[in-house]
This record gives sequence, structure tokens and C-alpha cells, in this order.
Amino acid sequence: MLKQEAEDGQASLADPHFRADVLAGLAATPRAIPARWFYDRRGSELFEAITELPEYYPTRTETALLQSVSPELAGLSAQGAAVVEFGSGSSTKTPILLKAIHPAAYVPIDISGDFLRQSARELGAAFPGLPVYPVEADFLRPVPLPADVASLPKLGFFPGSTIGNMDAHDAVDLLRVMVQWLGEGSRLLIGMDRVKSPDILIPAYDDAQGVTAAFNLNLLERINRELDGDVPVDAFRHRAIWNDDVARIEMHLEAVRDVAFTVDGRAFTIAAGETIHTENSHKYGPNGARTLLRAGGWTPIAEWTDTNDWFALILCEARPRSAAP
Ligand code: AVJ
Repeated sequence: MLKQEAEDGQASLADPHFRADVLAGLAATPRAIPARWFYDRRGSELFEAITELPEYYPTRTETALLQSVSPELAGLSAQGAAVVEFGSGSSTKTPILLKAIHPAAYVPIDISGDFLRQSARELGAAFPGLPVYPVEADFLRPVPLPADVASLPKLGFFPGSTIGNMDAHDAVDLLRVMVQWLGEGSRLLIGMDRVKSPDILIPAYDDAQGVTAAFNLNLLERINRELDGDVPVDAFRHRAIWNDDVARIEMHLEAVRDVAFTVDGRAFTIAAGETIHTENSHKYGPNGARTLLRAGGWTPIAEWTDTNDWFALILCEARPRSAAP
């Protein structure tokens, strides 16, 4: 994503998928742009800042949980396994797992070659002697893992409640694809954010310092930078709402007045009060989490939460469909 950023603001250098998603999303009813486009360089920096906010509990809760369960994890994962991380890895969570289980190899998978090479470099330096095999790929489309890890037992790692960005339909598709990546008999350690009071959830996505607002609004700045847009960013405000029917936080950009603008030569008008839907963050109760995993081909075998039950780490195993009633 970083390499696509136009130095000179010329739309011609923009990622064609970004352009297509924005043009279609601004014209759709309701208007919506996929959350993956938040993460240009600025957006990635703002997300890092979010993870350190007092209101944003997920990152610190999951990290502490992973730390506290790491002694148990060693006994629950196969000796000499390859850890396969979906996403290029965080400099705090990934080392905790690698220290705990002493894997034979580490395989980060990411669509962004830049992020991938950076985290592979960092992990390689922190764990000398650990073979690192980065795979530059969209994890929705499985490719064979590097030959050197093909015969090793696999432990998938999917932290951060990233699965929460997907609705149940897409989440099940991804979980099934993860079975294809890793193979039957493999294990997966996944982080899933719990359903909790909107009094906790809303501030986590609408913080007092306005960092999440800046993260959301940066999408409009990115459109202006990369797609030759003239969206009046000050005509939009950040909104975070709890949608109880589908148990998710939704982020929107709401027009505070009637606006007209162009993106890539195309004209759009948005009426005051209308929104552009920019992100979903689904939350799961204990049963919902397990049902989702089973639907995706993964049988839960161990589960940990923090003392508030705000965040869950679930270890599961890819098992063949059972014929039993
Ligand atoms: C990276 C998808 C897990 O949903 O909590 C944080 C993204 N958006 N604040 C989340 C996010 C606004 C985050 N995930």
C-alpha cells in the first residue's frame, strides 16, 4: 500500500483497486468504502496511536492475555511447528508467541510487501537462528507454503480481532481458507473481541483526543491525495455507533452539510446527515465465537479471557467434518 502513495498527487499512480472501491462505494446506497483502505502510511501511524489510547482496550488486553497464557501455549502446540501469521505481525504480540513456543520457522503472510519485509527483518534480528519465510499474498487466496515448512506442523496466528472487520459470511469464508493454507490437523490461535457494554465500546472507537476521528477522516484525505479528489474534509464528522442487531461497532463519516465534490473526475453529492460507512468491528460472545469458528472448520480446544472478559484468545484445531449426529 505504501508504495502506491502518489508522491506528486497524480491519480495515475493510485492503486486501481482503491480507485474502483472508492468510486463504487461513493455511488452505492448506502455509501460504503472497505476498511482496508484506511492503512496508507498516515493511517497506519494513526492506528498505532489508537492502540495506545486509554479508551482503546483491545491491544493492551490481548497483549497481556497472550503474555499470561504463553507458558500454557508451549504445551498446547506441536514441537517444531511453523508459526504462520495472517498479517505481517506486530512487534509486541508476535515475539511473545515465538518466545513461548520456540517454533521451527515463522511464516508471515501479508499483501503489503513493505510491511512484510519490515516485520521479517525485525523478527529475524530479534530471533537469530529462527528461519523466517515471508509470503507476499492476499490471505483470501491460498498459495502453497514455502517448501521448507511444508512438512512441519502448523500453528496459525490471527490476533488483533482482525476477524471482526468481516461479517459472519466473509469470516467463515476466511476461516475455511485458513484450513486450506494450513491443512487439516493444524492449529490456530485467534484473538476475538467480546460483546460488552456500549459504555466501554463507544469510547474505544470515539476517543476523547480525536485520534480515531483523525484515522477515519484520513480516508478522505487519502482520496484527495491519491485519487485527485476535492472532498471538503471539514464537511464530515466521525461517528461510531453500536449496532446491536449484528453486534458490531460501525464507523461512519457523516456529512454535516450538503456537499458536492469530485473524485477522479466524477461528481458526487451527499446531503447533510448522510453517511459513508467505513468500518465494521464485530464483537462475539463466548458461544457466538465458538459457533463462528466451528462453521469455518475450526474446533475450539482451549480458550482464555482477561478478568473483565473483554477479549478472548481461542486455540482451535482444523478437524474434518464429523458424520456423527
Ligand atoms: C484492526 C480491525 C482490529 O476494529 O478495533 C480501531 C481497527 N478501527 N479503531 C478494530 C480500528 C478503529 C481495529 N482492527
